[in-house]
Amino acid sequence: MKISIIGTGYVGLVTGLCLSEIGHDVICVDKEISKIKKINNCVPIIHENGITRLLKKNINKNFIATNNLSKAVKNSSISIIAVGTPFRNNKIDIKYVKIAAKQIGRAIKEKKEFHVIVVKSTVVPGTTDKIIKKIVEKESGMKVGLDFGLSMNPEFLREGEAVNDFMYPDRIIIGSSDVQTERILVKMYNLFKGVKIIKTNNQTAELIKYTSNSLLASLISFSNEISNLSERIGGIDIKDVMNGIYYDKRISPFIGSNKRVFPPIISYLESGCGFGGSCFPKDVKALISQGEMFNLDMSLLKAVININENQPKKMIDILKRNFKSLENIKVAILGLAFKPETNDVRESPSLKVIKNLNKYNVSINAYDPVAKNEAKKNITNKKITYKNNLKAAIKNVDAILIMTKWREFSDIPNIIKKNNPDVLIIDGRRIIKPSTVSNYVGIGLS
Ligand code: UDX
Repeated sequence: MKISIIGTGYVGLVTGLCLSEIGHDVICVDKEISKIKKINNCVPIIHENGITRLLKKNINKNFIATNNLSKAVKNSSISIIAVGTPFRNNKIDIKYVKIAAKQIGRAIKEKKEFHVIVVKSTVVPGTTDKIIKKIVEKESGMKVGLDFGLSMNPEFLREGEAVNDFMYPDRIIIGSSDVQTERILVKMYNLFKGVKIIKTNNQTAELIKYTSNSLLASLISFSNEISNLSERIGGIDIKDVMNGIYYDKRISPFIGSNKRVFPPIISYLESGCGFGGSCFPKDVKALISQGEMFNLDMSLLKAVININENQPKKMIDILKRNFKSLENIKVAILGLAFKPETNDVRESPSLKVIKNLNKYNVSINAYDPVAKNEAKKNITNKKITYKNNLKAAIKNVDAILIMTKWREFSDIPNIIKKNNPDVLIIDGRRIIKPSTVSNYVGIGLS
């Protein structure tokens, strides 16, 4: 099938490359010429495992990038909207989705054959059927269900794992305005044999997406609430508490007489210095603001956000408890993105801590294996040095703050043994075994 994709972020570019990988003819559209040039020259514009291989394999065969949206839409039968939906002024900003819908509407005006418009961007329930539908019908003079179809087909791609998540989906949710559109979407995904396809209406598909992210975020904040309590009680390690929960057979069921399955979701039942990223914070807040539009208090999701916003501050509190003054200390901040294997620093707890440390005039050695350049664009601290490796970052510092779970950070006990064995380690991700170092404080351990 011929598919045009509007937006070349981690969702648009990964979706485009993976759809071309399974045999579709894909044209990715972006308004930024610089991005188009890089993509067409196989230069990855996002940090995603597997992108470069797919670019080299498919570019100029059945994948190409362009900034000519109209031509791309006219030369395709499906157009996927995968542009950003940032959270601004206490609500989700869908202006980029509306612009894309308007341009697609204009482009299909002359078309004779049925065109399917897919909303893959995360939009609140009702957006596709009420707002996007109206824009496309107005711009094209066409009728949804007759001349064009509307589908809401959410993505469940984790940054850093997006190619893998697309190529090995756990579910495919297809919201649609009509049967013809649903059939076309099912056909687009028909190479994914045996994957559960859930067919529904557009607003249900929109809410499934938000509910999915809100559930995962709630598990993290739930764990952090219990972690904060266990610290106050004393003599408890939250890791032991949660380990006791993981063995609930309704969470980790037995298979056969003595084997059990520990589902990946239990890794979200983990306390730490907070969740971040371009999805969880924005999606939970968007759902809260939509609930409030219906006069619902959304108290649980508000608590999820409140708890999360306090977690990065705990890293500073622990520093303040261990040093009379922060004025002349030097700390290593390990992990700048919101999680490992990505360079995305949006809503990163690490950047919140760095900004907070600026108030205390603390010197910082900052290190992240892949996010240094992105982080630099978002940090104004004067007393910060960006280090290129872990050893350099933790040399001659008074404290080490572990902010993301990069595997290499578990080597810290060996590295400090020789020249800085008593350095304070503040473990925001609980990756270091406390008994392997002499001066350790971990979130959720008191
Ligand atoms: C998330 C959803 O997982 C994905 O399905 C959706 O499409 C987009 O939003 P993403 O934000 O990229 O993906 O990454 P994810 O790995 O889920 O991390 C989100 C937050 O959860 C991070 O702050 C991370 O630290 C935390 N996390 C992640 C955990 O606490 N435990 C984990 O096992 C993984």
